[in-house]
Amino acid sequence: MCGIVAYIGKEQAFPIILKGLKRLEYRGYDSAGIAVLNNESGLNNYKRQGKVSELEDFSAEQDTSGTIGIGHTRWATHGLPNNVNAHPHISTDGEMALIHNGIIENYDSLKEELVSRGYVFKSETDTEVLIHLIDDIKTNEKVKTAEAVRIALNSVIGAYAIVVLSKDNPNQLIAARKSSPLVVGIGKNGDFFLASDATPIIEYTNEVVYMEDEEIAIVDRNEGLRIFSIQNQEKTPYIQHLELQLEAIEKGGYEHFMLKEIHEQPRSIMDCFRGRLNVEDGWVGLGGIKDYETKLAKAKRIIMVACGTSWHAALVGEYLFEDLTRIPVEVEYASEFRYRNPIINENDIVIAISQSGETADTMAALNLAKSKGATILGICNVVGSSISRITDAGSYTHAGPEIGVASTKAFTAQVTVLTLMALTIARKKGSINETDFRRIITEMELIPDKVAKILEKSKKIEEIAAIYKDATNALYLGRGNSFPVALEGALKLKEISYIHAEGYPAAEMKHGPIALIDEEMPVFVIATKGTSYEKVVSNIQEVKARKGKVIAIITEGDAQVKEMADHYIEIPDTHEYLTPLLTTIPFQLISYYVAVMRGANVDQPRNLAKSVTVE
Ligand code: F6R
Repeated sequence: MCGIVAYIGKEQAFPIILKGLKRLEYRGYDSAGIAVLNNESGLNNYKRQGKVSELEDFSAEQDTSGTIGIGHTRWATHGLPNNVNAHPHISTDGEMALIHNGIIENYDSLKEELVSRGYVFKSETDTEVLIHLIDDIKTNEKVKTAEAVRIALNSVIGAYAIVVLSKDNPNQLIAARKSSPLVVGIGKNGDFFLASDATPIIEYTNEVVYMEDEEIAIVDRNEGLRIFSIQNQEKTPYIQHLELQLEAIEKGGYEHFMLKEIHEQPRSIMDCFRGRLNVEDGWVGLGGIKDYETKLAKAKRIIMVACGTSWHAALVGEYLFEDLTRIPVEVEYASEFRYRNPIINENDIVIAISQSGETADTMAALNLAKSKGATILGICNVVGSSISRITDAGSYTHAGPEIGVASTKAFTAQVTVLTLMALTIARKKGSINETDFRRIITEMELIPDKVAKILEKSKKIEEIAAIYKDATNALYLGRGNSFPVALEGALKLKEISYIHAEGYPAAEMKHGPIALIDEEMPVFVIATKGTSYEKVVSNIQEVKARKGKVIAIITEGDAQVKEMADHYIEIPDTHEYLTPLLTTIPFQLISYYVAVMRGANVDQPRNLAKSVTVE
């Protein structure tokens, strides 16, 4: 939710920041802006509604020179996406510029006070209070910018990652964070980078410092990096070496990040279980939760909290955990859990699932669980993310950076980790026999090749997409652990192609949605061989009897559904527990091709942003 990039060093800041904003554009893309400081022409601020490319075109003929600057790509919360509301925001005297990611919750009262002191607000944003507040403190208390920032943040309620640039000190950037991520990159030539995540930084340096909540970082050409708490205690920066490679965040010849990420799944699933699974020795283990295995095995209840696609992965996890470990699992929308006074105590284990590790609702749910004494664990993709740092323990999904806004490889990696976790606990508990255990892990090892085999069917899937690209509605049906996959399939179609779609447990269809079915309605059905196969076959018949169009995902060689369906996509057979890792792939591809054919912006769908760091 909003991307921040800032630079100070010997190079020209504008092109570095512009490139960084393009890398962060998945975080927000309704407007963008960059302010640079130049010894001769002063503080130049360029802002444009729309994508970063609009800003690039607009600034092409302008003076953008300067070796210090700050930039922002916005996902609007307060105020429309327009040039005025775009960041950076500038102080009334034109001396300071500020960018902000997050929400200032008490901005109304702060604004009232500032207006009474004569400040005139130009934008409708909550952010503008920050720049005037800092300015006000600076003027009245006669302190330097860094100190004014510190004092100001002590009266702010809400979430923020900010960077401030001030004309009175062209050698310094001041940054701070609380609940919104911020990373400092330490360049090789005494230059510094600040960004919402490491993607704009890694082509320059692998040395980074992840800022903690309520920390202020001052990066200075002469004094280097210093970190203080907002109570003014100096801290030693903890420098980490990132392994992230530049290729991982580039499209690598694919037309879209989403397509690249779909095709990366054979590798990302393998990366996820590498070193955690050994078929020969019959062993599974997750280093990150090693110390919690006994606690997990003894748990009376496990609660999973997540949002969106990660919530769908949690639902798959529920089936796996309950079946394999016989521990009751509750799956909660993090946004609901946090506001409904849930009954949790120190015996509970709460597992948060989050690709970004920054989702505000998931963070808040975890904090709530922690405050009630529960053990909190995390399954995150982004290394060093906020959730991965506040949890007692957890496992990374190792899917690599996911840049397409619609989540694909993160989902399959989350399901993979949940499978490994369920197997680990089941082993510890003795709730699984050796034969079943061996059968599952043997099949797990074959999943990457089977995913690759499905990807080879892309052409056929594209042809099916072409037939249904103009649909206005779609239904996705599945039973058992295929039900969450149906939900995920519907979400993918909705979010990138803007076709209304619903996922349903196949048997529930006759309790309502069946009324929608006519010859215009595509119905995607997961009809793979397994426990519910015969039941799903009956559900397909119900759809066909109402002239609905059935697109079935079937197990290779299944003649029965092949006959009944209007179209079918065959997937290799696997253990029933693992089918979600395969059945989700055709749905991802269908959504992708439909969106492309409809001319939608696949990687940056309207109104969405990759990580939702606001409530
Ligand atoms: C859908 C999608 C979102 C996210 C959700 C949670 O494709 O990407 O629904 O799954 O915003 O995000 P994370 O997993 O980062 O917590």
